Amino acid sequence: MKMYPTSWTRGMAFAAILMTLTASAAVAQDTISLASPDGRNKVGVATYQGRLYYIVTRDGRSVMMPSMLGFQFKGATPLRDSLRITGQARKSHDETWTQPWGEVARVRDNHNELRVSVVESKAPARRFDVVFRAFNDGVGFRYEFPAQPGLGAFVITDELTEFNLADDAKAWWIPSNRSRLDRSEMLYSSSPVSVIDSIQTPLTMATRDGKTFIVIHEANLVDYARMNLSGPKMDNRTLRVALAPMSGTDKVVGRTPFVTPWRTIQLADRAADLAPSVLGLNLNPPNALGDVSWIKPMKYVGIWWGMHINTMTWSSGPKHGATTANARRYIDFAAANGFGGVLVEGWNTGWDGDWINNRNAFSFTQAYPDYDLKALAAYAKQKGVHLIVHNETSGGIQNYERQMDSAFSMYERLGLDAIKSGYVTDTTSEGYSHHSQFMVNHYRKVIETAAKYKIMLDVHEPIHDTGERRTYPNMMSREGARGQEYNAWSGEGGNPPEHETNLYFTRLLAGPMDFTPGIFDILIERGTGRPRRLDESRIRTTLAKQLALYIVLWSPLQMAADLPENYEGKPAFQFIRDVAVDWQTSKTIDGRIGDYVIVARKAKNSEDWFLGAITDEEARTFNVPLSFLTPGKRYTAEIYADGPGANWATNPLPVAISKRSVTSTTNLSVALAPGGGQAVRITPAR
Ligand code: NOJ
Ligand code: CA
Repeated sequence: MKMYPTSWTRGMAFAAILMTLTASAAVAQDTISLASPDGRNKVGVATYQGRLYYIVTRDGRSVMMPSMLGFQFKGATPLRDSLRITGQARKSHDETWTQPWGEVARVRDNHNELRVSVVESKAPARRFDVVFRAFNDGVGFRYEFPAQPGLGAFVITDELTEFNLADDAKAWWIPSNRSRLDRSEMLYSSSPVSVIDSIQTPLTMATRDGKTFIVIHEANLVDYARMNLSGPKMDNRTLRVALAPMSGTDKVVGRTPFVTPWRTIQLADRAADLAPSVLGLNLNPPNALGDVSWIKPMKYVGIWWGMHINTMTWSSGPKHGATTANARRYIDFAAANGFGGVLVEGWNTGWDGDWINNRNAFSFTQAYPDYDLKALAAYAKQKGVHLIVHNETSGGIQNYERQMDSAFSMYERLGLDAIKSGYVTDTTSEGYSHHSQFMVNHYRKVIETAAKYKIMLDVHEPIHDTGERRTYPNMMSREGARGQEYNAWSGEGGNPPEHETNLYFTRLLAGPMDFTPGIFDILIERGTGRPRRLDESRIRTTLAKQLALYIVLWSPLQMAADLPENYEGKPAFQFIRDVAVDWQTSKTIDGRIGDYVIVARKAKNSEDWFLGAITDEEARTFNVPLSFLTPGKRYTAEIYADGPGANWATNPLPVAISKRSVTSTTNLSVALAPGGGQAVRITPAR
């Protein structure tokens, strides 16, 4: 057993470190610890035989066993051995800041900070600091490299950061090394963490006793490679940072002074306490844009679903979706129903033929002849609707960057202030993966350029969300997970009923998602000319669940994804018209990952509350206390429930709409059909 000596050494090291970390400062000179403001989360830092380790505990129980910190630079010895702690500095912080839009309006950033200074005690005597912040909802840390003679320009070939889990926790995860390499459009698996070999973050886990929930992710990813994790499969429970490669073994190219993104470990007692998650936001710099009054959360419709169900095409021809007449129809529909935006895909030249491989043919200014961009921009403006411009790059980054400034300035001149972009394909035309430092920098450049021209962004096939929206509130929504589109064409039967109950506790902890809810033609008859069978791709929810997704899967740009004609004459459409997209506060009332979730949100600048509940393939009934309402006040609840006999597989359409009077002492009985959901609007009674 070749593995034995290493794990034995590690075991000894861990035991020793744990002892030093728990011993008093007088005994162990080289041991430093930090506690969260409530004292529950603790970090310990120490060196053992020249290596630097940290631990994390919660209520005195280990969450992370001694986990190594360090780097491997190209052409140099690893920055890992002969390390010595030379100093420490502490700070505390308590501030409440306001978001221009979001899941919650006010965010409290209350943390204690510990800066640990480290030096290599042999040549080239490289120096760095590790900065830890302990919050009541978790821990973050990052590396900071000052400018120094022994480390100037560098190439990182590996970040040696470990997350050595104390428990073989249950994980809900998607892989980072399988097909669809550079996207996150996969279904979640759940398993003990010890069987996984490659993972994307956010990675959500529950300890085996179910008492602690742990989410590993990163914050403020700038000029660095995206963090994936290499799984512990061969090594018990140690997750290692696996930076996405740029080329060959090179991961990050940089020069000191340099700081890495934050590595974050969110901690909670219950799954329901994980969301809304603000740990990552608190580790991002504040708003860099100043006046952001031009940034407006909104609901939108679009010339979009038709392409996915084959009633329209992106390309020119008889089924071309982006025609002037069609766009006017959508603008009229949006204006009539109070939607803020209309997305139009396929408006620009480049879609004819193989648009994925002909990516350098995309123009971002030239419209097809049957689409009068200028006239439509003016028409939309007159109707008070934002015309959302679509920019599919197909991963042709140079082609996009070459046109970006001129295109965005043209949009600004036309009064167009929102873009949905896309990066279909696994590697860019330059040969880079979507997770690489090259693409991290590209995505950031797009945000900054868009901000310059006062343009809001919704990015598909994006880099994962690391809280950019705090610094750049124009970075509004993104995909970065398997959305509704898979229900149209995936050929694997679409997304299973549990999918959205996984998304809420995994992907959505990073930030909002443009999932595109609201399909009413559940069996996609409009596309196929007949109801689709169960073994075909179709929507695997009830119709009421489509409504509930507006609450559960929040997004400041929230689509009503179906064709306008599918909403006509449907009473349930009223809920989509009424639902808010910007929230004063949000609460997860109850939930079990992969099973169900119940969320309540209060609309911004309004006394309205919204409740959304969804389940997997199992029917469930809950008694939901409406104790979040203002005591003593009477409200009317408009309830959109699964109707009699509703079932995602056999009878997905029935919705029962009712009204009742409620107060903060009401226990609302919420019955969900198999694959079902419920959406409730609660407004002050007149
Ligand atoms: C994939 C995106 O997720 C989808 O929304 C878009 O319509 C297509 N790419 C084409 O850009
Ligand atoms: Ca996509």
